[in-house]
Amino acid sequence: MVVIGVTSGKGGVGKTTVVSNLATALAEFGRNVVVLDCNLTTSHIALHFGMQHVDNSIIDVLKKKVKIQEAVYYNPIASVKIVPSTLKQMEEVEIKNLKKLICRIANSRKDFVLIDSSPGFGNNVKNVLKASDKVLIVTTPTFPSLADGIKIAELAKKMKKEFFVILNKIRNKKYEVKTEIIERMFGVKINVIIPEDDKIPESIAFGAPVVVYKPYSKSAVAFKKFAASLIGEEYKPSFRERIEWLLGRALS
Ligand SMILES: Nc1ncnc2c1ncn2[C@@H]1O[C@H](COP(=O)(O)OP(=O)(O)OP(=O)(O)O)[C@@H](O)[C@H]1O
Ligand SMILES: [Mg+2]
Repeated sequence: MVVIGVTSGKGGVGKTTVVSNLATALAEFGRNVVVLDCNLTTSHIALHFGMQHVDNSIIDVLKKKVKIQEAVYYNPIASVKIVPSTLKQMEEVEIKNLKKLICRIANSRKDFVLIDSSPGFGNNVKNVLKASDKVLIVTTPTFPSLADGIKIAELAKKMKKEFFVILNKIRNKKYEVKTEIIERMFGVKINVIIPEDDKIPESIAFGAPVVVYKPYSKSAVAFKKFAASLIGEEYKPSFRERIEWLLGRALS
């Protein structure tokens, strides 16, 4: 089992989008995937998967109102299990013993557990990092997002957690910070770049990850390549994917 905590420091950079699509892409490669929504205050995982209503949430589990198994929902479109947070009134709950909870729902060697975190550097973000085997830092190529991403990287280093960086919403504009500079800032190689893609907000409005909503879009292909790299497989785009990707580039 591999637990990946997805964080960013700055809000709105694409954590939930990355979690929902990476989970779906890993499931397409035959992995068992569980997604945990640990953004307890501005939780959106359920909405990204088109779930408008859930009876039990991770907050009920943390408050010991229900067992974690009672808050696991299978999403048939994405073939992913989801432990959502609540869409109701904001509730302040401390995330404790997360690793123990995770072990109750995922223990097979091939399982992936992806945790969606809230932005910032509060206790709940630290608890997500603590429970994670690997930390995935999402950033955009802009200084405010990079500055906060670097703070998360420092935190991960202090906690002796392996981290990697995903660059999201790339538009290849002159004002964007260059990838080489970002690599120097973090001290790691960036091997995941997700382009800015209108198909992503479109997919959220539709209520499904872009990987299933538009499987041949440039962002979906980037997520599938990333998922493949995580499991040591090579992703070979089909002929149709290559044509659609080229068309997308020509039109952008
Ligand atoms: N690659 C992309 N191309 C275009 N739009 C994107 C991309 N990634 C994310 N977005 C858009 O950016 C917005 C924020 O994304 P998302 O909710 O995933 O961020 P977040 O980091 O989880 O935010 P929060 O910190 O509030 O939890 C969404 O409206 C989404 O549609
Ligand atoms: Mg989010």
